[in-house]
Amino acid sequence: MATPHQHDVLIIGTGAAGLSLALHLPPQLRIALICKGQLNEGSTYWAQGGMAAVLHTRDTVSSHVEDTLAAGAGLCHREAVEFTVNNSRHCVEWLVSQGVDFDLREDQHSIAEREFHLTMEGGHSHRRIIHAADRTGRAISEVLTEKAMQAENIELFPQRVAVDLVVANGRCQGAYILDREHDRVELFQARSVVLATGGASKAYLYTSNPDGASGDGIAMAWRAGCRVANLEFNQFHPTCLYHPKAKSFLITEAIRGEGGRLLLPDGNRFMQRFDERGELAPRDIVARAIDHEMKRLGADCVFLDISHKPRDFLRSHFPTIMERCAELGIDIGSEPIPVVPAAHYTCGGVVVDTRGRTDLPGLYAIGETSCTGLHGANRMASNSLLECIVYAEAAAGDIAAALPGTGAPDPAPPWDESQVTDSDEDVVISHNWDELRRFMWDYVGIVRTNKRLQRALHRVELLQAEIAEYYGNYKVSNDLLELRNLAMVAELMIRCAISRKESRGLHYTLDYPDQLPTAEDTVLRPANSALQG
Ligand code: FAD
Ligand code: SIN
Repeated sequence: MATPHQHDVLIIGTGAAGLSLALHLPPQLRIALICKGQLNEGSTYWAQGGMAAVLHTRDTVSSHVEDTLAAGAGLCHREAVEFTVNNSRHCVEWLVSQGVDFDLREDQHSIAEREFHLTMEGGHSHRRIIHAADRTGRAISEVLTEKAMQAENIELFPQRVAVDLVVANGRCQGAYILDREHDRVELFQARSVVLATGGASKAYLYTSNPDGASGDGIAMAWRAGCRVANLEFNQFHPTCLYHPKAKSFLITEAIRGEGGRLLLPDGNRFMQRFDERGELAPRDIVARAIDHEMKRLGADCVFLDISHKPRDFLRSHFPTIMERCAELGIDIGSEPIPVVPAAHYTCGGVVVDTRGRTDLPGLYAIGETSCTGLHGANRMASNSLLECIVYAEAAAGDIAAALPGTGAPDPAPPWDESQVTDSDEDVVISHNWDELRRFMWDYVGIVRTNKRLQRALHRVELLQAEIAEYYGNYKVSNDLLELRNLAMVAELMIRCAISRKESRGLHYTLDYPDQLPTAEDTVLRPANSALQG
């Protein structure tokens, strides 16, 4: 039997949230940082537009707070919004101190002035988005990964997939983790465990997200007895590239922030008919407008045109998009880009407080996997990276304060594979995966109805039963684990959507098209709830 891995803190996820947390913890703590594939495979690496922060001299904390509350359609928790925005400047300073190279203003006279170029995105009433061209996530990810690799107290474990959390004596004490290279499940024990596993947008057929966004942290926390909330609010980004050869490629909202226009196939603009803010209305409104126009016209896509801007400007602000489009034969300097909405961000997640604490003692959740109350019914653009960094620091502070009073984990049994065999029918996994993502797109998409949601629930229950049987009989693999988690989270999304009898933010249903006068979170509590009382 393999000896369990022992650490003070186990962090599951190496995106902006997990890396920042690891780097904020005191250096005397022994940290395990694990991820499913390579270190840079989460959504963070792909973030384009940037990170929202109050940096401009004419901007204010209250303006950023009010914009966030407005985008969140009455459901944001003011405490979480104020906490996040109040920490935004400080988080930018921390990232800069780590070595992240954000773009400076073009008219900058000296580096000492450190005047950042700030771009604009939907819902923001000021230029507020600090960025590194259109590859902000990559800039953050590479710097923080490098720092984590240099830190002596941080041990990195790529190619490891967390299967489930270990709970003993009412406390989270570690996790069972699949080592993909050696095909075996190991026990990782720790005095604190952090879920920083990202979102669940892979539940949908079309998504901007990388492959691993299968809601693992949400599913693991739910199985361990934690509440989840607001999972009906899956954000659809209005503009993903529409091209048969382009898988999951985002066209940043910053293009609209810099004057990009949305056009119908006949070349006419349409956003003003839906909202006076036009292309810069919050995302739920723009995505719904595009969906409406595509259905009305039977069009495959709409178009985003930024060709009126000088080529040099496009080259310096949007090099990644320019290059990717050029590879596919689209010259963004002279023609519009074909775009469609796609699933982009999971606004709900594991319920946490302002220190990232879940219902289960010893377990934290940060980043996209958590539900802090910041996003409400619709996340404002570029508030997500900010949330990752702010809550990572807060959780690190809480862990550092709590650990001296926390005992070593209790002995736990090793993973038991004595009853399972190798699967002889892996194709079942890919069929179920396709089916799930298709019906989520068709029935739990941008526009919903009671009937569609009931159909989706029925199908997900059938799938869950099949997956449970498969899970009970065969050795685990990454694909099986992702499917199991995705089906679990899809069910939670559907249940949240069914229980909301109104249209609000990202949840729009033809059966209840109006917004109720009072706003309430949709909170689901598992039967084995870890909450006292
Ligand atoms: P991620 O960065 O997704 O990382 C998740 C980590 O968890 C990965 O390391 C993964 O391997 C690991 N993991 C998951 N499950 C397991 C498991 N079972 N076992 C082990 N490891 C696991 N937000 C902004 O604010 N600004 C932007 O400009 C922006 N642009 C975006 C562009 C794109 C294309 C996408 C997809 C998202 C964008 N977002 C943006 C959203 C933002 O990038 C994400 O919300 C944020 O990066 C999430 O960070 P995270 O640390 O929570 O998770
Ligand atoms: C984008 O660049 O459009 C994505 C920004 C975000 O999701 O916050």
